[in-house]
Amino acid sequence: MGFTQEIQRRRTFAIISHPDAGKTTLTEKLLLFGGAIHVAGAVKSNKIKKTATSDFMEIEKQRGISVATSVMGFEYNDHKINILDTPGHQDFAEDTFRTLTAVDSVIIVIDAAKGVENQTRKLMEVCRMRNTPVMVFINKMDRPSKDPFDLLEEVEDELKIQVRPLSWPIGNGPSFQGVYNVFENSLNLFEANKPTVQESLAIDDVKNPELDNIIGEDPAQLLREEIELMEGVYPQFETQKYLKGELAPVFFGSALNNFGVNELLNCFIQIAPTPQPSETTTRTIEPNEDKFTGFVFKIHANMDPNHRNRIAFVKICSGKFERNKNYLHVRQGKNYKFSSPTAFMAEKKSVIDEAYPGDIVGLPDSGNFIIGDTLTEGEKINFKGLPSFSPELFRYIENADPMKTKQLNKGIDQLMDEGVAQLFTSQFNGRKIIGTVGALQFEVIEHRLSHEYNAKCRYEPINLYKACWIRSENTTELADFKLRKAQYMAKDKQGRDVFLADSSYMLQLAQQNFTDIEFHFTSEF
Ligand code: G4P
Repeated sequence: MGFTQEIQRRRTFAIISHPDAGKTTLTEKLLLFGGAIHVAGAVKSNKIKKTATSDFMEIEKQRGISVATSVMGFEYNDHKINILDTPGHQDFAEDTFRTLTAVDSVIIVIDAAKGVENQTRKLMEVCRMRNTPVMVFINKMDRPSKDPFDLLEEVEDELKIQVRPLSWPIGNGPSFQGVYNVFENSLNLFEANKPTVQESLAIDDVKNPELDNIIGEDPAQLLREEIELMEGVYPQFETQKYLKGELAPVFFGSALNNFGVNELLNCFIQIAPTPQPSETTTRTIEPNEDKFTGFVFKIHANMDPNHRNRIAFVKICSGKFERNKNYLHVRQGKNYKFSSPTAFMAEKKSVIDEAYPGDIVGLPDSGNFIIGDTLTEGEKINFKGLPSFSPELFRYIENADPMKTKQLNKGIDQLMDEGVAQLFTSQFNGRKIIGTVGALQFEVIEHRLSHEYNAKCRYEPINLYKACWIRSENTTELADFKLRKAQYMAKDKQGRDVFLADSSYMLQLAQQNFTDIEFHFTSEF
C-alpha cells in the first residue's frame, strides 16, 4: 500500500463523555467490531470505579492498566482506526485536554436520561477552540430517556454546535423499538444484548405502510410525525460543515446492547477526517510530507519502581516513522534512534518497524522527553497547541526527609515533565509550589515520590487563586510590576515569569493598573 493510501485510511479520534455515560462500553463495542478484542469486559478494567473518587490507590492501579488502553488501534473495513483514551476523572482533565490535541475528531457520548453533563461541556470547549469535528452518540436508549427533541436542543444550547440527527429513536426505555436510519432510510429493530449486528430492514420511505406492520400503527404514526418535524427543524447533513466543526451528526442507540454502534462506526469511517495538518511555531506541517515529524503528547511512567522507564507517546504528524532511524530531538538538539517503538492494537502492545501520520507510537524513555517535545528528521520546528493550563490548587512542597533531597528533586522534576502538575519557584522566598487542576494530584505525587523515588514530601498550605503567565513589551512596566508584586512572583519550570494572584480581586486590580502587561491563563502564547 502506498504512503498516501496509508494516510487516507487512518482515523484518529477520542471518545469523550461525562463519567458513566458509556464511554468505556462504547469503546469496547467498537473494538469488538474491529475484531481487536473478542470478549466483552476486556476494556472495562480501564475504568476508575465510582467508589474510588477519593481513593487514589485505585487510581495508581488504573495507571498501570491504562498504559495498555492509552491508545487502542484496530482495523475495520480497510481503515486503521486509533482511539485515544481520555481519563474520565475530572481531576485528570488536563491529560484529556492534551490528548485532544492529538486527535482529528471526537465522538461525544451522552446519557439519554441525563442529557449534557458538566464534564462534557468542558471538554467540548476544548474541541471548539480547535474546531475539532464531533459526532454525538446518545446512549442508553433502552432506559427511560428524555424526549429526543429536548435532548437535541440541549446539545445545541449547551455544547454550542448545530446538530443533525442521522438516526431517530422509536420509543425509549421499555418501549424502545429501535432506530430509523434517516441517512439510509432503513429500520433497525432493537433486541437487547444482541451479540452480532442485526440486519437492518430497508424502508424506502417512512410513509411506507409496511412500517405499521412492523412497529405498530401508533408508533409508526408518531415516528412519521417526528421525522417530518425533525426534517423541518434541522438542516440537511453536510460533511463539509461537520469537518469544520460546525455541525454534529447525532446517532441514538445503546452501547451496552451493541445497538446503533455499527451505524455510528460505518458513518464515522465514511465522514471522519483523515490525519490533518499540524501547526508549528514556524509553519504548517502536512501529513503527506515525506519527512517524519511528530510530538510527545503524553508521558507514562512504568509501574515498576525498580526500572524508572517511561513511555513517551508520540503522535506522528507527517512522513513515515521508522524503527532504528536517527531522529532529531529538537529541544535537546540531539539525535536518537529507537530500537523498540511500540504500537498499540487493542490491549496488546507490540514492537513495530514503521508507522504513519495519525498513528501513535510509544517510545521507551529514560527521562529525555517532556510533554510537547518535537521529533523530526533534522528540521528545527516546534509543534504548537500543547498548553499548560493555569492551575487552580496550590501547595508548598517541602522535603520531609533531608537525607533524600536528591531523590526528591529528581522525582519532582520527572513528575512535572510527565505533566502530573506544575512547579513554580517563588522568587520571594525560593520555596517550591505545586499547582494542579485537581486535588487528587497531590496524593498521587506524594505516593509516587515515595514509591518510585524513595523520597518523602510534605505539603504546606498556600492561599492562592490563580497562576498566570505574564509578558510585556514594555520592559519598564514589567520591571515595575515585578518589583511591586515581588511577593507574588514565581518562575515556572522553563524559567518564565508567573504571577501568583491570591484573589480574583487582586488579579483584576493588577490587570487594571498594568495595562501594558499581558496576563495569560495557558502557558502557550
Ligand atoms: P464511562 O466509561 O463513560 O464512565 O461509562 P461505562 O461505559 O463504564 O458505563 C457506565 C454504566 O452504564 C455501566 O454500568 C454500563 O454497563 C452502563 N451502560 C453503558 N451503556 C449502556 C446502555 O446502552 N444501556 C444501559 N442500560 N446501560 C449502559 P455499571 O453498572 O456502572 O457498570 P457495570 O458494573 O455494569 O460494568
